Amino acid sequence: MTTTPVGIHDLSFATTHYALDHAVLAQRLGVDRDKFYLGIGQEKMSVAAADEDIVTIAAAAAKPILERHGTDNIRTVLLATETGVDQSKAAALYLHSLIGLPNAARVVELKQACYGGTAGLQFAAGLIARDPSQRVLVIAADIAKYELDTPGEPTQGAAAVAMLVTADPAILALDPVSGLYSADIMDFWRPNYRTEAIVDGKTSVNAYQKAAQEAWTDYRRQGGRELGEFAAFCYHQPFTKMAYKAHRHLLESQGHTADTDAIEAAIGATTTYNRTVGNSYTASLYLGLASLLDHGDDLTGKALAMISYGSGSVAEFFSGTVQSGYREHLRTEANLAAISSRELLGYERYRELHEATSPSDGAYHAMVEETRRPYRLAAVSGHKRIYESR
Ligand code: HMG
Repeated sequence: MTTTPVGIHDLSFATTHYALDHAVLAQRLGVDRDKFYLGIGQEKMSVAAADEDIVTIAAAAAKPILERHGTDNIRTVLLATETGVDQSKAAALYLHSLIGLPNAARVVELKQACYGGTAGLQFAAGLIARDPSQRVLVIAADIAKYELDTPGEPTQGAAAVAMLVTADPAILALDPVSGLYSADIMDFWRPNYRTEAIVDGKTSVNAYQKAAQEAWTDYRRQGGRELGEFAAFCYHQPFTKMAYKAHRHLLESQGHTADTDAIEAAIGATTTYNRTVGNSYTASLYLGLASLLDHGDDLTGKALAMISYGSGSVAEFFSGTVQSGYREHLRTEANLAAISSRELLGYERYRELHEATSPSDGAYHAMVEETRRPYRLAAVSGHKRIYESR
């Protein structure tokens, strides 16, 4: 095993063309908007246009990484999603051709609810430990969708995060130790015949907290750092309040006093993007990392805790060290622009988009041009998805 540091060399995110303000949803549902703004910590959520899907947002996230670093030695592409577009063909293959990746590559889709992106990152780290000259492109992309007029509805959202994983990374070097926890539970799932997830909300919140705590226990058993060593804690954020709840639970389980200011200092900067993007499942944890790096104080040399949770369920507690000079490699301006350039939806159009179904009759269906993002789904024809660059 090599001792070369391995981790995140570049990180870029993309989101959809549209967003819905939670005040609009609150009015429709007849609840106080502060239930969403304060109670779950969500102000807006990204919503996909009819000509967007996880392939188009994943490609938009990955494109700037290839523009900056080229494609040499990218021999593996891992796309994690739980909202894939095909039961057989990897969504990563559409992306592979859209953004011009080399043919000499293994291209795979990964799934385990919101945990899939972390599986991709850890598998990538293993491949690079075997051959440090290789680089792996890991993309986490999801569009979170629950039934209309249900408690899950305000916790929708969409985003993709692309990461270039390499030896001697410029942003975050991963510690070799990880804490793991898996348990077969039914807190959130989506059978193949459904487009919307089924969730037992309260069970899922408790399952998340227990899994995070168990993963932490395993992390310590494996020789991981102590709680006090971390400058910040980056949690999977189905809604931003969940990160606060989970952190408080973790601290209390370890006999620490859960002081509100200390929790804010540990979590606050990780929530800025998720608060306005919503749940992006596999991408959510890494959107939290982008938010922390873009908004936190100077983190050079500091240790970060990363807590990944995917319903069903798998959790991983892992960690890393922020690298010297990392700020020169961030994409803060582009990240802020991806959010601020979204078009705000009225309720009726949001509902139409939510209720629209994918063409499934095999005929030619051109998609109405809506998105102004770099890639779009142009048509579905003969059961094939046809993408184009804009
Ligand atoms: P709910 O029943 O609508 O909300 O469901 P509530 O009544 O529990 O209220 C939420 C909070 O708002 C409460 O605060 C209220 O007090 C507060 P808390 O007690 O939790 O601290 N509140 C207000 N605050 C200020 N002003 C007001 C006001 N009114 C109420 N006026 C629930 C909430 C999260 C359960 C629901 O949205 C849901 O089911 N969401 C989907 C499931 C989910 O996100 N689960 C998270 C853990 S599982 C996970 O993270 C995995 C996942 O990402 C999927 C994957 O892995 O693939 C989901």
